Amino acid sequence: MSVLLCATFHVALSATNTTAARNGTVADGLLENGNFELAPDPKNMKGTVVLGKYAIPGWINEGFVEYIKSGQKQGDMLLVVPEGAYAVRLGNEASIKQKLKVIKGLYYSITFSAARTCAQEERLNVTVAPDSGVLPIQTVYSSNGWDCYAWAFQAESTEAEVIIHNPGVEEDPACGPLIDAVAIKALYPPRPTNKNILKNAGFEEGPYIFPNANYGVLIPPNIEDDHSPLPGWMVESLKAVKYIDSAHFFVPQGRRAIELVGGKESAIAQIARTIVGKTYRLTFAVGDANNSCAGSLVVEAFAGKDTIKVPYESKGKGGFKRAVLTFKAVSNRTRIMFLSTFYTMRNDDFSSLCGPIVDDVKLLSVRNT
Ligand SMILES: *[C@@H]1O[C@H](CO)[C@@H](O)[C@H](O)[C@H]1NC(C)=O
Ligand SMILES: *[C@@H]1O[C@H](CO)[C@@H](O)[C@H](O)[C@H]1NC(C)=O
Ligand SMILES: *[C@@H]1O[C@H](CO)[C@@H](O)[C@H](O)[C@H]1NC(C)=O
Ligand SMILES: *[C@@H]1O[C@H](CO)[C@@H](O)[C@H](O)[C@H]1NC(C)=O
Repeated sequence: MSVLLCATFHVALSATNTTAARNGTVADGLLENGNFELAPDPKNMKGTVVLGKYAIPGWINEGFVEYIKSGQKQGDMLLVVPEGAYAVRLGNEASIKQKLKVIKGLYYSITFSAARTCAQEERLNVTVAPDSGVLPIQTVYSSNGWDCYAWAFQAESTEAEVIIHNPGVEEDPACGPLIDAVAIKALYPPRPTNKNILKNAGFEEGPYIFPNANYGVLIPPNIEDDHSPLPGWMVESLKAVKYIDSAHFFVPQGRRAIELVGGKESAIAQIARTIVGKTYRLTFAVGDANNSCAGSLVVEAFAGKDTIKVPYESKGKGGFKRAVLTFKAVSNRTRIMFLSTFYTMRNDDFSSLCGPIVDDVKLLSVRNT
């Protein structure tokens, strides 16, 4: 079984070195008791069930919330929370929430690690009013079910209340996702430059990645969201894409890249301003993240109706090549999009989806010489 857990950072980050404030606002990193290492007073617990709204330090909880210790059994299932750490489980219609001081107008991303417990697909509704998003919690991306998820909002005032809610209505109240850590990061939406028409084209600006989290962060499809945790980019279609960092993966350029883990069901896109009749060059890197994702990978790139398929033979040990798509703009807005032609599984656990990585994207007009 894979020990590459999203949530193996408990030992490195203590629950108390959080929320150091800049201008009195929340700092990048874990929320207060964001990894739930500070336990409720035993008198506010009945077995694993948390009693009272203010029992978990830093949080307000509602509904059937359990405080879970790693190694605890549920029925015949062993609940694994890495490194002897703690997590909370949200039963049907249960929620946890925390108020944060934020800078009005600024964009923020929330990163949290979660795992589903029962057989059915589970979901979490993340809200900072008036925004909310429903994120499917699945096991397809990591063999043990733990993954990190990102979501973003724009602060409407100087106070933001983050609510994570399980909208489920399972028959078994003990069903419902486990949540292991919650962090925040301010986002600074990048602008296009004269060196690149695309914004955030190296994916350097994005959600918080836990320092010891070696499983990347899933950027869910932004079906109803206006704000992307990956500024400039939209995740289209049904499945998530994975945001990875150079501390734990091979990354072609800079510190961050995107892994296309959902085959044709997950596409990442940006609309570029173009001038009709002009010729453009889209260049980008295609490779593998050094995560045992071996095989014949193919990335399809689109610029409006023009497209190119870029094959990449992966040994799963890290590497990349560059590709170019030259096209003539037929509209003043051209959709630049990337997807993976195939589904691929990691060859070290045969149950986690993986895929080719894309990085260092550039779009420039070709001048006549
Ligand atoms: C923090 O406060 C200083 C001065 O009070 C201000 O110049 C700066 O813009 C503030 N930073 C943010 C991120 O609001
Ligand atoms: C998610 O929660 C928000 C706030 O409670 C609510 O307005 C929204 O309808 C919920 N979405 C779903 C799909 O339940
Ligand atoms: C891939 O990971 C291995 C093990 O962590 C490391 O030794 C190697 O240098 C990495 N390769 C690349 C190309 O980053
Ligand atoms: C861009 O195209 C749209 C629709 O094709 C058109 O309405 C709009 O005026 C155009 N804008 C510019 C700046 O050419």
